Amino acid sequence: MSVRIAVGAQWGDEGKGKIIDLLSSGADLVVRYQGGANAGHTVKINDKKFILHMIPSGVLNKKTVSAIGNGVVFDYESFINELTVLNNEGIDTEERLFLSPYAHVVMPYHKEIDRAFEKVRKNKIGTTFKGIGPAYQDKISRCGIRVVDILDDDYFVSVLKNNIEMKNLTFESMYGEKNKFSFDEIYKDCLDKFSIIRKYVKDVSLIIDEYLKQNKSILFEGAQGTLLDIDHGTYPYVTSSNTTSGGVCTGTGVSPTKINSVIGVMKAYTTRVGNGPFVSELFDDTGKYLSEKGHEVGATTGRPRRCGYFDALIARYSVRINGISSLALTKIDVLGGLDKIKVCVGYKYNDQILREFLPVSNVLEKCEPVYEELEGWKEDISEIRNYNELPENVKKYIGYIEKVSPVEIVSVGPERNQSIYK
Ligand code: GDP
Ligand code: IMO
Ligand code: MG
Repeated sequence: MSVRIAVGAQWGDEGKGKIIDLLSSGADLVVRYQGGANAGHTVKINDKKFILHMIPSGVLNKKTVSAIGNGVVFDYESFINELTVLNNEGIDTEERLFLSPYAHVVMPYHKEIDRAFEKVRKNKIGTTFKGIGPAYQDKISRCGIRVVDILDDDYFVSVLKNNIEMKNLTFESMYGEKNKFSFDEIYKDCLDKFSIIRKYVKDVSLIIDEYLKQNKSILFEGAQGTLLDIDHGTYPYVTSSNTTSGGVCTGTGVSPTKINSVIGVMKAYTTRVGNGPFVSELFDDTGKYLSEKGHEVGATTGRPRRCGYFDALIARYSVRINGISSLALTKIDVLGGLDKIKVCVGYKYNDQILREFLPVSNVLEKCEPVYEELEGWKEDISEIRNYNELPENVKKYIGYIEKVSPVEIVSVGPERNQSIYK
């Protein structure tokens, strides 16, 4: 039995979808614990490419059961779209996909408020406009609507009416628009769509407990990444949930004493989509090379991802905050072809050299990277499946990263089988 967490170690898009799909062949249950449809997890299986936003990446393994925990903000539009794609591909979801009744629901007004708020705020986050911030805001303000609430019509009508009144008041005072949201429209839309969803609702904490009692293996699927965590990330340029391993317990109802290990999914270089500090960001030809060779385009929004060198301070921070016990190192194939590869080992801040990452955006914005340089390699490694066959300089690069945490999986391409167990 293993109970492990797979967590993004940088700013998201590390290749979690690929790694979770790979690990889920050994998992009986895969559970999402936070975030919402802001996630875009890509899984490539032969000529098929799936991008999952709401449904756990484990769903593509026919023997694995998937669940969406209470810590997720549930986007029913995305969920239904993904169900359609999966069912059209012959992937059955009946009795193998579950949704916590205690997950908060992303309502249509959350997406509008997300957009409207970004428009007026000075320090724009560059959100995905999936309504994530506003949905978590309602949860914390104690006016959110949970899946279980939609299933109880009288209660749903009363909270939805009150919420719409409140949102309309806010919208009018902020943007001068009257009666922006209509109860009738939203209510009808929800009820129609919830008739599809109803059968998936089941207490996820109880499912986890059953699996634990039967000594089955569970994998928790992180979305976003450590530096987008609301507490430990580059605030305010973060998402609104606890993306780090700590989010698993509150986001699913599992006890911390049941978790055996944490695998950090870490890209061999760094990317970021959206705004905020990024010390090792590249604005030169190498940045362009990584962006083009790595196809660094956002899976949810289609925006280009900013690219930069590997940052050892971030890696060490991520290992500490998440308790990472091993790494899945992804996209190392993309670095092939560079003469030299730099690794950021310090931040120059005024007259000091910082050696530890700190989640303070206005300090990070003033930092300059301090680099060490490693030798690159010219070989294409995407067809290698045996660690010993990797070129010496690739092994040296991996060895360098292993100063932070042992590497368990080396990913050399997007396909399931383009993976090396070290
Ligand atoms: P996630 O959000 O962490 O699941 O990552 P995304 O799916 O948003 O982005 C990762 C992208 O890199 C996807 O297009 C993957 O298919 C691709 N990918 C994953 N692992 C590798 C790898 O080892 N090498 C290459 N070249 N591409 C990879
Ligand atoms: P996966 O799971 C990369 C970023 C957005 C923005 C910030 C806040 O695919 O790794 P939000 O819509 O959450 O309020 O946006 O977080 N962001 C991601 N960046 N990968 C993701 O998910 C992301 N989800 C949100 O670009 O900067
Ligand atoms: Mg992604």
